[in-house]
Amino acid sequence: MKEIILASLGAKLRNFEKGFCMSLKVFLKNIYFLLRCYAPCPVLIKFFYNYVIARKKVKSVYSSKLEEYKNQFKLGVFTNDWFSGNIPHWLAIFDRYDFQNKKIEALEIGSWEGMSSLFMLTEMPLANLTCVDTWAGSDEHQGADVLNAIEVNFEKNLSTVSDRLKKYKGTSYSYFDVCAHDQMFDLIFIDGSHYSDDVLVDAVKAFQHLKINGVMIFDDYFWRIYRRDFDNPCAAINNFLRLKSGLYRVISVYGQIAIEKIGNERQVEKLS
Ligand SMILES: C[S@@+](CC[C@H](N)C(=O)[O-])C[C@H]1O[C@@H](n2cnc3c(N)ncnc32)[C@H](O)[C@@H]1O
Repeated sequence: MKEIILASLGAKLRNFEKGFCMSLKVFLKNIYFLLRCYAPCPVLIKFFYNYVIARKKVKSVYSSKLEEYKNQFKLGVFTNDWFSGNIPHWLAIFDRYDFQNKKIEALEIGSWEGMSSLFMLTEMPLANLTCVDTWAGSDEHQGADVLNAIEVNFEKNLSTVSDRLKKYKGTSYSYFDVCAHDQMFDLIFIDGSHYSDDVLVDAVKAFQHLKINGVMIFDDYFWRIYRRDFDNPCAAINNFLRLKSGLYRVISVYGQIAIEKIGNERQVEKLS
């Protein structure tokens, strides 16, 4: 009996040690990447807080809702799921800003088959959403067979909420060219091209259209597909954040980074 208890305790300890070492390795790898890509201090602090302290709690609080969404997505035509892992963090943000009960204007750059779009329109029943996409895929999708179907799948997946949806087919650059100067959004999700030049332009243009106290979420903050660190989203987002220092607050840093706009740019200093 004693041996069985000791053996099971030993196995538990080994599992804990393995899990702990894995988490520590991922944490250190990501911190090192953030430092190489000039992450500002508030981002490093928030990443530490989210990864070490808040992550497990957020996942457990929203785990049943996550399952509901996963079941809903099974009813749609989705060939990829890049989004549902982020749902607990989005729900934490929506609760914090009470987005479920407000009339929200939302913008999404990069919709693919509409999983993130469907989530937004379902979770925020009073929201309108503008989806911007070329529906031609990004660098990493070129050559994939599914590209022929993504736009049709998007239409099918969003057919039940199409009355609150505006679709713009074209690049994000061209969208910001035609977007009315005074069109402002409460929530912006940036998940289009992941090449750093494009991410930087999307960030700068989107921030101009973000209301004060509006929220902007960037996907794939730690994602590395391009060989050079600086060609990936992280470096672009960090440099954007450095430019906008004092005008935003970091809400959370997981695989995505979310910020709240707290000040307006282009304020002219009055000469005395
Ligand atoms: C990763 S997918 C979006 C996934 C989606 N947000 C989700 O979570 O289900 C990226 C999308 O960005 C689009 N895209 C790539 N470059 C773009 C650009 N310059 N302007 C607009 N959309 C672009 C692609 O066609 C693709 O559908």
